[in-house]
Amino acid sequence: MSDKAFDVVVIGGGPGGYVAAIRSAQLGLNTACIDKRGPLGGTCLNVGCIPSKALLHSSHHFEMAGHDFASHGIKVNKVELDLAAMMARKEKVVEDLTKGIGFLFKKNKVTHFEGTGRILSADTVAVQKDGKEKKLKAKHIVIATGSDSAPLPGVETDEKRIVTSTGALSLPKVPKHLAVIGAGVIGLELGSVWRRLGAKVTVLEYLDRILTPMDSGLAQESQKILKKQGIEFKLGVKVTGAKTTKNDVTLTYEPAKGGKAETLSADVVLVSIGRTPYTEGLGLDAAKIETDEKGRVKIDDHFRTNVKNVYAIGDVVRGAMLAHKAEDEGIAVAEIIAGQSGHVNYDAIPAVVYTWPEIAAVGKTEEELKADNVAYKVGKFPFLANSRARTNADTDGMVKILADKTTDRVLGVHIVGPVAGELIAEACLAIEFGSSAEDIARTCHSHPGFGEAVKEAALAVANRPIHF
Ligand code: NAI
Repeated sequence: MSDKAFDVVVIGGGPGGYVAAIRSAQLGLNTACIDKRGPLGGTCLNVGCIPSKALLHSSHHFEMAGHDFASHGIKVNKVELDLAAMMARKEKVVEDLTKGIGFLFKKNKVTHFEGTGRILSADTVAVQKDGKEKKLKAKHIVIATGSDSAPLPGVETDEKRIVTSTGALSLPKVPKHLAVIGAGVIGLELGSVWRRLGAKVTVLEYLDRILTPMDSGLAQESQKILKKQGIEFKLGVKVTGAKTTKNDVTLTYEPAKGGKAETLSADVVLVSIGRTPYTEGLGLDAAKIETDEKGRVKIDDHFRTNVKNVYAIGDVVRGAMLAHKAEDEGIAVAEIIAGQSGHVNYDAIPAVVYTWPEIAAVGKTEEELKADNVAYKVGKFPFLANSRARTNADTDGMVKILADKTTDRVLGVHIVGPVAGELIAEACLAIEFGSSAEDIARTCHSHPGFGEAVKEAALAVANRPIHF
């Protein structure tokens, strides 16, 4: 196969890579995107955000039908789980969305290469598939190879009994007891799915709190709600080993600060202790591309690596490992390559945990403001006092707004509550526009709406909420 030449070659077809490729093509650059997984979309679409949200939504319906419908005057005889059908629906959602990216590539004239991309030099990338190799010439290379589940020494995953998030998205039956290692986003989302479907769920967490680095008040409130739903938490414990027998896995754990070891048996164990940047086989050494102490590709403020014309974005570089952060970086890097002023505002990137209620945040936490010696005001409003939450019987949670004490500028918004993941968009816009809490308080919010809780929390910043 003869060499092909492109203005931009993107390695990785996840949310960072495919968006960078589409934006580059929109800007008139001849663009290729290489991905070794058959379907496009990376971890997010194939084994991450999308399938997990499909299962979260289905399992929420299942729980509602089993426990909540009666209070709405809806009688259902017997609610039964058809796990195979639930999984098939999830697969179909994934298939449709990944195919959608192929369609967008065709529409925008992005050339898709299926295979493993390896950087040979600052202007050449090899694509390997089934023992064959093509060489692509590239004026610009964008590394967007994402991340992989972090391994836990002593607890080897087999994707059957001891699983990563990938295995936990496709369990063939509901575990009797699911042990989750790590009280982060993945552990709480997938723990919620399997609890709703009937599993006993125990979460073991090394730190003495859940959801680090979110605001600790928000995390405490969330833990209280998740505990009430039936998830058990063992905080401040270190898992040191796992022994698999025919029927179960016995985990050994000890207090993180040291002390007597204990054991816990479960039929399935989910290891969700974070993710590591994925650069295997990428040829970083040969191309002399530098990485940092965490194995992330080193970049400057304009996504440039130390090698001219080679850029990197998404989970493989510094910052939050979030699909929407990667997407925004994908757009920015394409614009920079095209000579424009691409930019990402890292102060306005939301984080959402899709449990029910949802947990969402943007901007600074109280801990960060204290550490930075910033004087701030707090406004809180509970969903218990929000009329829409009352009508829907979704009253758990609250909105907390942190604003600068002197200027009233919104510095952070933290929400646990119904549709928090949607409500946070208003807060992102407020932070992006540098608005004050009073700006939110003076903005008309439709009634009866969950959004009124955001307005009331903004009023509470000035000690004048109406409904609480
Ligand atoms: P995480 O970093 O969110 O949480 C990992 C947790 O494991 C931490 O609380 C950590 O203290 C704990 N831990 C580490 N070692 C431990 C040990 N030996 N024993 C017990 N606990 C231990 O990582 P997670 O949940 O695996 O997620 C990975 C990435 O994927 C995150 O960056 C997350 O933001 C992203 N993600 C985002 C989603 C979303 O936006 N809704 C959904 C799923 C993942």
